[in-house]
Amino acid sequence: MTCPNSVLDAVLTRRSAPRLTEPAPGSAHLECLVQAAATAPDHGRLRPWRLVAVSGDERARLGDALAEAADTPEQARRAAAKPLRAPLLLAIVHRPMPDHPKVPEWEQLAATAGMVTTLSLLLHSHSFASIWRTGPTVQAPQVRKYLGVENDEQLLGWLYVGTREGEDAADRRPVDIPARITWHTTDI
Ligand SMILES: Cc1cc2nc3c(=O)[nH]c(=O)nc-3n(C[C@H](O)[C@H](O)[C@H](O)COP(=O)(O)O)c2cc1C
Repeated sequence: MTCPNSVLDAVLTRRSAPRLTEPAPGSAHLECLVQAAATAPDHGRLRPWRLVAVSGDERARLGDALAEAADTPEQARRAAAKPLRAPLLLAIVHRPMPDHPKVPEWEQLAATAGMVTTLSLLLHSHSFASIWRTGPTVQAPQVRKYLGVENDEQLLGWLYVGTREGEDAADRRPVDIPARITWHTTDI
């Protein structure tokens, strides 16, 4: 695996990885990458987030909680297996500071999303891969209880982390960028 050697390379070559295997970063490596991701733009430097890392056999316990929240036995069977799709899951817990005088909650959510996006790029630049997954189970009391998510916190899903298994997805369709940039300028 070759690492991207520039920010542009990393941005252009990162792809979500639906299938992940060992290795995932160890705790020291993960802390180092999250420390870097925490530099993402964040109005008021509130860092309105925390992560719950789930790995090893604890993934099965998370699977049990997901299964408990399912409506049918078949859904429960599939839900129980979901956390086993990667060696490491990072539950993304958004904890906004309410009624902040300068930073409304949408800005805090933007800061949390920016941190997660930055982390996924950093993981990619260290030869790991990831995918952010969500779903209705982020609201499930059994799941929130297992993860220790408090009432004033929002579970934004999981960053599944590991090493990509299989090929990268095909290249993205190009986006019509000129149609998305409106200039008000006298310079061009
Ligand atoms: C907030 C958020 C939630 C996501 N939730 C899911 C999900 O539940 N399931 C999934 O397969 N992908 C999910 N994704 C990943 C997107 O599907 C993926 O980023 C998109 O397909 C573009 O692919 P790329 O990341 O390889 O460019 C999510 C991404 C974001 C940013």
